[in-house]
Amino acid sequence: MKTSVNDVKILEVPTVSDTRGKLAVVEKECIPFAIKRVYYLYDVPSDSYRGGHAHKNLYQFLIPLSGSFEVHLKDGVNERKITLNKPNKGLLIVPGIWREIANFSSGSVCLVLASNVYEEEDYIRKYKDFELFKRT
Ligand code: TYD
Repeated sequence: MKTSVNDVKILEVPTVSDTRGKLAVVEKECIPFAIKRVYYLYDVPSDSYRGGHAHKNLYQFLIPLSGSFEVHLKDGVNERKITLNKPNKGLLIVPGIWREIANFSSGSVCLVLASNVYEEEDYIRKYKDFELFKRT
């Protein structure tokens, strides 16, 4: 699979703002997939490490609803590290990208919008298998 870490993009979530606060809206124009699943990470210990896998077909959009965390991305050739810390800026992760998420701030919440339901068969959980997948 040819996707690269440069295909991973920070997208701004349109936000309605007034003196009462901010309201961010993810509609279909905002992300390039239909949402089939929503899940979130919370109560994450600061020394915890999540991810450590890639997906064959899944698109995901990560939004740091609260606090901050780092997303380390690999495509088998290049790497990128992105800090997410603004609730109106999400990260679009395309299929075929290895990701590791770490350095969660206290009380941080990571919302994930996904293009499909949970399917363990869509995961690549061993880095060696990921490298093979990227070569084919
Ligand atoms: P995993 O995707 O590996 O979590 P992370 O990438 O955040 O480290 O999933 C952790 C566990 O939760 C694993 O046993 C699968 C299960 N799980 C579900 O049952 N449904 C889901 O939608 C997700 C994302 C995970």
